[in-house]
Amino acid sequence: MLSPGVPQLASQRLVDRLLRRNGLKASDLPFFSRADQVNAPGQRQFSSYDYLDLKTHPLILDAASEALKQYGLSTSASRLMAGELPHHAGLETQLAQVYGQESALVFVSGHATNVSTIAALVEPGDLVIVDQLSHNSIQMGVRLSGARRLVFPHNDPVGLERLLVKHRHQYRRCLIVTEGHFSMDGDSPDLNSLLTLRDEHRAWLMVDEAHGLGVLGAGGLGSHQQQGIDPSKVDIWMGTLSKSLASTGGFIAAKQDVIQHLRLHASGFSFSVGLNAPCCAAATAALTVMRNEPERVASLQANGRYLIHTAQEAGLDVGQSLGMGIVPIMLNDLRHTFLAANHLLAQGWGVYPIAPPTVPSNRCRLRLFVRSDHTKESITNLVNDLSSAIHHTKTNAGR
Ligand SMILES: Cc1ncc(COP(=O)(O)O)c(C=O)c1O
Repeated sequence: MLSPGVPQLASQRLVDRLLRRNGLKASDLPFFSRADQVNAPGQRQFSSYDYLDLKTHPLILDAASEALKQYGLSTSASRLMAGELPHHAGLETQLAQVYGQESALVFVSGHATNVSTIAALVEPGDLVIVDQLSHNSIQMGVRLSGARRLVFPHNDPVGLERLLVKHRHQYRRCLIVTEGHFSMDGDSPDLNSLLTLRDEHRAWLMVDEAHGLGVLGAGGLGSHQQQGIDPSKVDIWMGTLSKSLASTGGFIAAKQDVIQHLRLHASGFSFSVGLNAPCCAAATAALTVMRNEPERVASLQANGRYLIHTAQEAGLDVGQSLGMGIVPIMLNDLRHTFLAANHLLAQGWGVYPIAPPTVPSNRCRLRLFVRSDHTKESITNLVNDLSSAIHHTKTNAGR
């Protein structure tokens, strides 16, 4: 319940309605009732996206502390004013290389990167077609831009083509947006088909690699490496520093003229403080560690395969997951999902429920992140406890 005077937003009303309909109270939500479990110890934590276990890597901590000592915690100005640091160019050059692009630009937050980039690229009179399961930051960017928004069925190039054929000609510019590795489902689009449609319909293609970098492809370079695509063919790559790169912030990698346009017109860049030196230094060091220690990516991918195999053997529904770093356990029903999560949290597992507005109410799930430092033993134990928690809630959770 919100304090008097705090506006009740539509998303809050939706959650309240769903809870009531499912006979649940706010105290049944694990985030409120089991906040002490947020930091479940490493081997029992399956909700952290520190995919390559780099958060406390000594080289990354050293790089961040050096930068901190030299430049402090805040850049104290927008980069268009006095906030430009040598660390920015260093990190941006490396990110541009990962994506075979001319240039890159880092922002203080991944969410703000999507919102302000999309809003700076399109406007009323333009068309944006987004994958149905795109992240909130993508949807918010489109809304802010004022462009016409259409949604194509998840990972369905045929559905996308249908929309392009029907609507593209009515708009000046067209932007297609998808994710390289979907955060809630752990699956990927077929980038080749999207590139073909992009060319046929004179559109731009933007791919959010928040969960692709460090996770997909033999060297962890992302969805393009996994699918053998030349990354320079994609118009706009977006990513975050907060996942595999163990830092905070977001970035765009694209052609020089796009980056130059964003420097001036992406409000989350020009009207916001520059990313601080410790975060830049940490992300730059993380990219180096990722390259020098490829066994981390290999271990993450082996763990993902093991988790998906073990879960399927136990009869759990993992949806369309590739089994790379994100594995949903589909329970569909909201009540069962919350109760199963509570059961697991009470046993010391860091496993959280995903429910509306993040996913539709009939697609609720427990979403698992696999990391390079997980062991087969912890994954086996998790799957055993998951199976009993689900069995327990399904048999005992009378309404
Ligand atoms: C697909 C996707 N894009 C963007 C973001 C926003 O990134 P950040 O949390 O670094 O702001 C997230 C966050 O989880 C995400 O999953």
